[in-house]
Amino acid sequence: MSIYRKYINQTRKPQGFLGKMIIRRMNSEHAKLSEWGLEHLVRLERIAPGEILEIGCGGGMNAGTLMKMYPSAKLTAIDYSELSVRKAAAYNKEMIASGRCEIRQGDVSTLDLPEEKFDLATAFETIYFWPGLEKCFSEVAKVLKPGGFFMIVNESDGMDEESLNYAKIIDGMRCYTPEAIETALKSAGFTKVRCSHHRSMPWITVLARK
Ligand SMILES: C[S@@+](CC[C@H](N)C(=O)[O-])C[C@H]1O[C@@H](n2cnc3c(N)ncnc32)[C@H](O)[C@@H]1O
Repeated sequence: MSIYRKYINQTRKPQGFLGKMIIRRMNSEHAKLSEWGLEHLVRLERIAPGEILEIGCGGGMNAGTLMKMYPSAKLTAIDYSELSVRKAAAYNKEMIASGRCEIRQGDVSTLDLPEEKFDLATAFETIYFWPGLEKCFSEVAKVLKPGGFFMIVNESDGMDEESLNYAKIIDGMRCYTPEAIETALKSAGFTKVRCSHHRSMPWITVLARK
């Protein structure tokens, strides 16, 4: 495997030296996408979540932003990469010290969290790597309160050439169209599903309600 391919494969589960390099870039490179996605959440729904779950938290920037957006919320962030958990914990250390934030290692396909605990779950740039959308979405639904929201933000709309090329070299990566995401969400028990597409980029936001 070429060094580039080894490096780019770290997006799926960062570890080791190359994983550290990729995590260092994640927070900054995803900032504009995250901001765009979060604008939808504010525009589409006036919510005041008490408990937030941030899934596949990577370097932890989105966890920090969500806690600033919702100052009375508590946030749990999970990632199955031990390195991501360490980096996200370092990024959010003050919020952890204040008792508002917990960051733990966990796999979305078998969520070890209390049922019906969360008002909002978020997933930025991560569902490409989840092992079976419908199963993982069912796990998310299980830990959301009835009426809770799930927001997915992807920089791929499932048809852009750049991401489709990444999917050819990143093990286990799959790109999804908004329609495929909506179908999997509905099969997992979500009802109201709204998809938005960026006007000039292949970015998508999907907001679903349990
Ligand atoms: C491309 S990074 C995105 C990180 C962050 N959400 C962001 O937007 O910068 C994907 C992250 O999802 C995590 N991930 C992938 N599959 C996962 C799974 N099954 N359960 C939990 N985390 C997962 C990876 O370890 C990685 O940290």
